[in-house]
Amino acid sequence: MREFRADAPGRVNLIGEHTDYQDGFVMPSTVPQRTTAVLRPRDDRSVHAWSRQIGSEPVIFHLGAERRGAAWGDYVQGLTWVLERERYTIAGFDLHLDSDVPLGSGLSSSAALEIATLRAIRSAFELPISDVALARMAQRAEVEFVGAPVGIMDQMACSLAGERDALFLDTRSLKFERIPLPAGLELVVINSGVAHQHAGGDYVTRRRESEEAARQLGVERLRDVPVDALPQVESLPPLLARRARHIVTENARVLEARDRLTAGDLEAFGQLLNASHVSLRDDYEVSVPAVDLLVEIAQSHDGVFGARMTGGGFGGAVVIAARAGLERAVASGVSEGYASRGHWQPEVLVPRAS
Ligand code: GLA
Repeated sequence: MREFRADAPGRVNLIGEHTDYQDGFVMPSTVPQRTTAVLRPRDDRSVHAWSRQIGSEPVIFHLGAERRGAAWGDYVQGLTWVLERERYTIAGFDLHLDSDVPLGSGLSSSAALEIATLRAIRSAFELPISDVALARMAQRAEVEFVGAPVGIMDQMACSLAGERDALFLDTRSLKFERIPLPAGLELVVINSGVAHQHAGGDYVTRRRESEEAARQLGVERLRDVPVDALPQVESLPPLLARRARHIVTENARVLEARDRLTAGDLEAFGQLLNASHVSLRDDYEVSVPAVDLLVEIAQSHDGVFGARMTGGGFGGAVVIAARAGLERAVASGVSEGYASRGHWQPEVLVPRAS
């Protein structure tokens, strides 16, 4: 029986947080950690999926009879469910997943699973699906089947970004540009160890608040509010004003960050990361004290251009823009500084231990 192998990386967002579901701008990259999918087509219409990380029992279901409630297996069921809805013909298969993208760290283990699995399905059944369409299908599976109302950043990053690129993406048009990371820049990613849950309430609450702010401002999405309209934003009820202010200013920061990165101005790029963190912490209120502390320690470390929380928030990881050559010193300095303040030793995800 033929075997089809594919993989996809986790993503780390550089800037543009909580903007994608309001049609805004984002700029993610990827991490070295990946999810691998090995697929063997079957003669019947059943799917047997194993995850090396989560137990030895397979998730088993029949194509056309996908039912929510199979925990991680919902991500796989969601994909075949979307493929059927979009009229692609596939057969049953065995699927073995293996991943070193940590769960709940804000590095998008779910999108890595979705894209790796879809890539394996695409090659096994010779489906004519572009990388952008693949990302759209993965997002649709997560939103409509799994029930997590996420934007499209993670799936686009896992499908289209490279490790030495920033993927500047307009989430409205899905037009993107790959910006090579300047040689003087290395990313450091540290997991706080506080796990988040996205299908959970906080993300959904923020999404609703942003939708309410857009409604009260009379726009379809907050993407449609330019920064010079901030005085109008301030006239909203205080909580909605804070939420909208984050998204409006964050979109402006992403555009600026793209220009700074392209120009190789890493000091200015780092300042934008710092400003993004303040906005996420104070206006969008999606950070937690452990993550704030990691960011603060990082920002005062030698060789750091800037640092911020990355991903959906409420825990997870921080991304640090470090001067190339100093990334290992930054990673160990920040994690030791954090441990010495009475916390546990956080996990350095990037750079990887050599
Ligand atoms: C999660 C979602 C993304 C995005 C980020 C916040 O990772 O999956 O779509 O909304 O949160 O920027």
